[in-house]
Amino acid sequence: MTKTVNGFSKKTKEEKIAWLASTYLENNPQAISILKHYWNTDEKLQKLHDDFIENAISNYYLPFAIAPNFLINGKLYALPMVIEESSVVAAAGNAAKFWLNRGGFKTEVISTTKNGQIHLNYYGEPQLLKDFFNFIQPVLKASISDIEKNMRARKGGLIELSLADKTEVLEGYYFIHATFETLDAMGANFINSCLEKIAHVFETEAQQYEPFKNKNTFPETVMSILSNYVPECLVRAEVSCHVDKLTTKHLDGKKFASKFVRAIAIAKAETRRAVTHNKGIMNGIDAVIIATGNDFRAVEAGIHAYAARNNYYGSLTHAEVEDDIFKFRIEIPLAIGTVGGLTSLHPMTKLALEILKNPSAKELMEIIAVAGLAQNFAAIRSLITTGIQKGHMKMHLMNILNQQEATEDEKNLAISHFSSKTISHSAVVEFINEIRSK
Ligand code: MEV
Repeated sequence: MTKTVNGFSKKTKEEKIAWLASTYLENNPQAISILKHYWNTDEKLQKLHDDFIENAISNYYLPFAIAPNFLINGKLYALPMVIEESSVVAAAGNAAKFWLNRGGFKTEVISTTKNGQIHLNYYGEPQLLKDFFNFIQPVLKASISDIEKNMRARKGGLIELSLADKTEVLEGYYFIHATFETLDAMGANFINSCLEKIAHVFETEAQQYEPFKNKNTFPETVMSILSNYVPECLVRAEVSCHVDKLTTKHLDGKKFASKFVRAIAIAKAETRRAVTHNKGIMNGIDAVIIATGNDFRAVEAGIHAYAARNNYYGSLTHAEVEDDIFKFRIEIPLAIGTVGGLTSLHPMTKLALEILKNPSAKELMEIIAVAGLAQNFAAIRSLITTGIQKGHMKMHLMNILNQQEATEDEKNLAISHFSSKTISHSAVVEFINEIRSK
């Protein structure tokens, strides 16, 4: 049995690797060399990465790609995308090009507030808690003036506090709901600092409140934390064109539009399809979220909850044909930032934002919604025409060739051979074996 380790975080990077290698990797010199091979030779840059998290021993690369030709509200963008899946960037680029000649993408930020809760236990008379909350609100608001100072100067900060009675779902459960405007910051640290301060003041003041003292029942804080469910931080992106402009070599425009609308209806009717449909949307969204240094777990959690807001999990996109006009749109909650966090710290993130011409958080919300819509358009277009595998395997061919350690010559031969043939893992392996045996 392997032994536990004490004080691991205090060890140097070399010591951590040595411990890992001896405990889990049978001191395999190749494993150690892989870890070190991925260190950056620029020591300052490497140190920056090491400091992002605890116990960093190496770096983990993902490709950083560009999907050009996105016309959004009349402005051209090249989208930075970080993702490992072969066909995603190609699909984004295709969708961008398709809509470039059909009016481009139109977007609108519908709302921008974020929120958090102070979750409470209280088993006394509900009215007493409500009275105390109304009485103490000004004190709670004033208590965060220091934390809010910079945000206030930019016209952001706490907007509102309210008390929610949840005792019907859980005995003794109330929460204080706080809404915030955090402008260009995602604002997680700001919101959590405000909530913790408010919770502390709330609890301390409650101890001094005579009506609670008389009954000897006091509200107690269980926890204070922002919510990643942000349906009041919404963005919409859409495309539209006459159905005749949808005609491709595979399908006539009218037929394409009706099959497309049907595909979306299926994603609204059936959870199994909805999840895959939305996964495809997240391919585009996550890739831009990661490239711009935002929190993809927060965004994923919030978006999927939004997809289930009507008590069933459905499509995030909507399509219709009205008077021969095809309309396709997405509406998603997005709490993201273009300042703070990793945005100015990680050189690649900083560069990604520069490529996007240093957008405000609102602009970035719009760009990300477009990335999701474009990805979904590309996926549905393939699914209802050629099927997904043709394009997917074309992009995946290089991965299979790399797995086979193909040389540049072998790769070129394989690319030309498979340009007119169906690509499968076994067919590629067979082809490589054949040319090697000659
Ligand atoms: C693959 O990563 C994403 C798709 O499955 C999305 C979809 O089915 O709509 C192609």
